[in-house]
Amino acid sequence: MAEQATMQAVVIDGFGAAGALRTESVRVPVPGDGEILVRVHAAGINAIDWATRAGEGVGVSAFPAILGWDVSGTVAATGPGTQRFRVGDEVFGMPRFPAPAGGYAEYVVAPEAELSRKPSEITHVDAAAVPMPALTAWQSLFEHGDLRSGQRVLVSGAAGGVGHLAVQLAVAAGAEVIGTASPDNFAFVRGLGASDVVDYRGTLPESVKDVDVAIDPRGGGDFHRLLDVLRPGGIVVTLKGEADGQRRSAEERGRRAGYTYVHPDSAALERIAPLLADGRVRPVVQQVFRLDQVARAHALGEQGHVQGRLVLDLA
Ligand SMILES: NC(=O)c1ccc[n+]([C@@H]2O[C@H](COP(=O)([O-])OP(=O)(O)OC[C@H]3O[C@@H](n4cnc5c(N)ncnc54)[C@H](OP(=O)(O)O)[C@@H]3O)[C@@H](O)[C@H]2O)c1
Repeated sequence: MAEQATMQAVVIDGFGAAGALRTESVRVPVPGDGEILVRVHAAGINAIDWATRAGEGVGVSAFPAILGWDVSGTVAATGPGTQRFRVGDEVFGMPRFPAPAGGYAEYVVAPEAELSRKPSEITHVDAAAVPMPALTAWQSLFEHGDLRSGQRVLVSGAAGGVGHLAVQLAVAAGAEVIGTASPDNFAFVRGLGASDVVDYRGTLPESVKDVDVAIDPRGGGDFHRLLDVLRPGGIVVTLKGEADGQRRSAEERGRRAGYTYVHPDSAALERIAPLLADGRVRPVVQQVFRLDQVARAHALGEQGHVQGRLVLDLA
């Protein structure tokens, strides 16, 4: 078991601005049947975290609540009936999403089925930047988009958490990738392997066409703009939920609409792990924060222009 009875965690006592986040000493959770206690070394900060903090997200049923889903750490204890991991193993994952997981804490209890082995070649900080954005990209590209080698992908918001991993996963699968970003990020997105990068503001240039799979992180008008660049049979996969009329608009034009609601998938993370190990997919962490700096991290993330991911270092 964990050597200590209490741990540091980031809690909220109610929904609010970044200032609502505070660190507190709470009891270390105990793993039940099929569960693993993980000593968290690093926790990724996702857009859903600040939406949840503000009362516009998921997974808070009572206060005080511990935010966070993406974690990387070592197995501290194993619950009854577990088989996959031993104490000391390095693991990462996005357990329980969209139910509460309590990832912004020194320890987290997670179903063993929702954890994967962390590649030893990457750090906990880099691994914590992966689960939610990579699974979102994977489920969008391969499960909704059925992406195959030689196809063309458009990744909107290609410099962000989901976008920068989507570009690299699509390139690794043999696709040609066009990214959208603000001009300051053009070189960054090219460096990820995109063959072209265009500004997401205004009209997309004529050269952006015949796209097989487009990833839309914003929905609304962007969904319809992206429909315009698809080839017949192509798909826009939006991360913002289904809005009225979208499927019909797509069908009327011989295109398709898909909707990703990311879910834990340790098998997919284990297929991504070799790409992380050999460097074909490199998570980018713009900035690392201590647990007690989490409010600063949220305030930065909420501005909407982070390159890659922000990560809490709890080691
Ligand atoms: N449905 C799901 O399961 C699911 C899962 C994960 C995320 N999401 C959602 O997907 C979105 C992206 O997530 P994320 O983690 O990648 O967020 P993020 O890292 O916070 O995204 C930041 C990026 O967004 C880009 N951006 C800002 N304004 C934009 C615009 N008008 N058009 C295109 N890109 C723009 C920025 O690019 P520049 O810096 O170049 O300006 C920046 O690189 C969020 O809304 C999140 O809630 C949904």
